[in-house]
Amino acid sequence: MAEPILVVDHIVKRFETPEGVLTAVDDVSFTVAPGEFVAVIGPSGCGKSTLFNVIGGLLDGYEGRVSVSGETISGPHAAVGMIFQEESTFPWRNVIDNVAFPLEIAGMAKAERIEKARHFVDLVGLNGFERSYPSELSGGMRQRVSMARTLASEPKILLMDEPFAALDEQTRLLLGDKVLQIQQDLKQTTLLITHNLTEAVQLSDRILVMTYRPGRMKRMVDIKLPRPRSSEIVGSDAFGHYVAQIWNDLREEATKGLKDDESRRARTSRA
Ligand SMILES: Nc1ncnc2c1ncn2[C@@H]1O[C@H](COP(=O)(O)OP(=O)(O)O)[C@@H](O)[C@H]1O
Ligand SMILES: [Mg+2]
Repeated sequence: MAEPILVVDHIVKRFETPEGVLTAVDDVSFTVAPGEFVAVIGPSGCGKSTLFNVIGGLLDGYEGRVSVSGETISGPHAAVGMIFQEESTFPWRNVIDNVAFPLEIAGMAKAERIEKARHFVDLVGLNGFERSYPSELSGGMRQRVSMARTLASEPKILLMDEPFAALDEQTRLLLGDKVLQIQQDLKQTTLLITHNLTEAVQLSDRILVMTYRPGRMKRMVDIKLPRPRSSEIVGSDAFGHYVAQIWNDLREEATKGLKDDESRRARTSRA
């Protein structure tokens, strides 16, 4: 196997809360090979975003170590690009200037950065909208602008934290296809947090299933479906088998999450 591009080594992250110390991520370790696509799945509150924020260098005060290409991460890092659920376009910049922004910050000359931005705008399927402003675009299109902007800085690792969660089902399916295609074109090493089992199985080489509180690794599942994958594969027996297997793991954890929610609600309504 190739040298891993990402090493996540015994990460533990705790938060001080009014109810005491909460262990959000508990001893998570895994490696990712260059070009691999790994989905992270688990019930709400199991520590997925916390894990990503540690990998992206947005949190400190954790145990363990994260390294990218052998270099330890100790703060926000150009090697790690992040895309969040809330799209994060700059409303006062048009599409091209949004996408070119990180290149401008990096000091790239104007002609060069516009050309490069154009390439990534094409890649996410927004050609023809270069001069549009975010307010003139749909939510799905704005999310694609965010995606193009993050990709334009050519991160070694792309972290996507439920990037499609706020979008309607059709837009989400189309964006899933886009991500598959980008994955194929760029061989971009990607980690994706999602609630959507179909999306996870369709896109991933491996799926990390997390437990509910504390967030531990429950299972790492290899998805041995052939690539390139089209949406046709979703109807196959092999695909259904993976979805059922992962749902089995997930259901157990989601049930714990629901019970926890209910008892918390009961406590607060008594108080
Ligand atoms: N900054 C913070 N301070 C205190 N608790 C936090 C903080 N961030 C997250 N948590 C808690 O850590 C747990 C995991 O949160 P999170 O990583 O956002 O879960 P997920 O992304 O899987 O839904 C939750 O119980 C959440 O309330
Ligand atoms: Mg989250």
